[in-house]
Amino acid sequence: MKTLVVRGGRPLCGTVFIHGAKNGVLPLLAATLLSNEPCTLDGCPEITDAACAAEILSCLGCRVGRCGERICVNAADGTGVRIPRELSGKMRASVTFLGAMLARHGRAELFAPGGCVLGERPIDWHIRALEALGVTAETDGQLLRFAWKRRRGGETELPFPSVGATENLMLAATGAPEPVVIRGAAREPEIAELGCFLRDMGAEIEGEGSDAITVFCSKPLHGANRRVLPDRIETATYLAMTAACGGDLSVRHTDPSLLLPVLEALERAGCTLRCLDDSIRLVSDGRLRGVGSIRAEVYPGFPTDAQAIVTAALLRAEGLSEMEDAVFPHRFRHVSELRKFGADVRTVGSRAVIRGVARLNPANAEVTDLRGGAGVLIAALAAKGESRIANAELLLRGYAALDTYLQKLGAEVFFA
Ligand code: EPU
Repeated sequence: MKTLVVRGGRPLCGTVFIHGAKNGVLPLLAATLLSNEPCTLDGCPEITDAACAAEILSCLGCRVGRCGERICVNAADGTGVRIPRELSGKMRASVTFLGAMLARHGRAELFAPGGCVLGERPIDWHIRALEALGVTAETDGQLLRFAWKRRRGGETELPFPSVGATENLMLAATGAPEPVVIRGAAREPEIAELGCFLRDMGAEIEGEGSDAITVFCSKPLHGANRRVLPDRIETATYLAMTAACGGDLSVRHTDPSLLLPVLEALERAGCTLRCLDDSIRLVSDGRLRGVGSIRAEVYPGFPTDAQAIVTAALLRAEGLSEMEDAVFPHRFRHVSELRKFGADVRTVGSRAVIRGVARLNPANAEVTDLRGGAGVLIAALAAKGESRIANAELLLRGYAALDTYLQKLGAEVFFA
């Protein structure tokens, strides 16, 4: 277990270069399983979730090589159909390999996917939507077994635009003999990115980025190369850190158009922002004001992954802020950790109510989940004095070079 020591109370100044998106690279890695030919992904962040996805591919028989931010996968021998319990349980995105294995082999076996505890995270919608395409599912209570003997295309519909289920269906659909139409699809940029990669591999895709996606594959998919899109949540995290601590931050290699609701919230809180095509500059004097109500929703709404992060930035904002989460209504485990810093924040149903306090005190706290942990880190950076954050290895699931980036911005942060 790692502890992050933070000596907070300093402004953050300088430049960060955003990595490829965690939630973008994981489905792309799953997609590499669909071809017998090599695929190359550039801009892969060095985070433990990407390492876990690479391990799943190796375990399925693929040859995987990593050189810096480039991952090459040759899935010619990727004949495995079972993800072992240990790897299934390490992260939620292990479930995305289900669609890829079904397309390639017509069979897939895995255990309940792990990942951050954000309340209930079932995979019932994945299963029901796959069943509509002729997939059968059974379980002995532990192992989940899927088979696609009578493959068929047609329409399948999600009751809610689940990101993971949409990705799974797109991947599985490449193995159907007829076109598949996915209705009620998620519209997140990472989905559009998966659609582009599948098209690069030779699939016919229409509508990615809308709520109805059509996938058709008339011939075997070939290899492809792609650069992973920038991480909008890593971007939001460094912006929120600077908003909370004060400072002058330039974020480069990002895409401001992917996080407009977050930028708008930070501006409302009193930060000055300037956006160019692939960069954002944020200036904050650290004296923020409450923003009223924010509701985290599916894309293009305010992202649930930025909910804890922006909550933490508002702990010292004068006045009242409210953060509701309509995607994960129980994603508030960070709130009790934030209170350890002297913050006045409470959960009421599926919302956190924040009354800004004049100052935060250093504290010993822990990472409850990846984004909640980023929120705890923001509180520690804004509190003058030494804080210690336990379970900090969880932050490395999604943030590459976290300590070195923060040190470059002037923060005193190190792993103990
Ligand atoms: N849901 C169900 N049944 C299902 C699938 C989802 O009830 O079969 C519910 C979930 O419990 C949740 C809601 O639907 O309440 C949305 O879940 P979704 O399936 O969209 O989320 P996910 O695919 O499990 C991805 C990201 C999350 C991000 C969400 C929402 C990856 C690997 N994970 O999760 O990212 O919060 O979409 O945008 O892409 C993170 O990066 O820290 C993270 C948790």
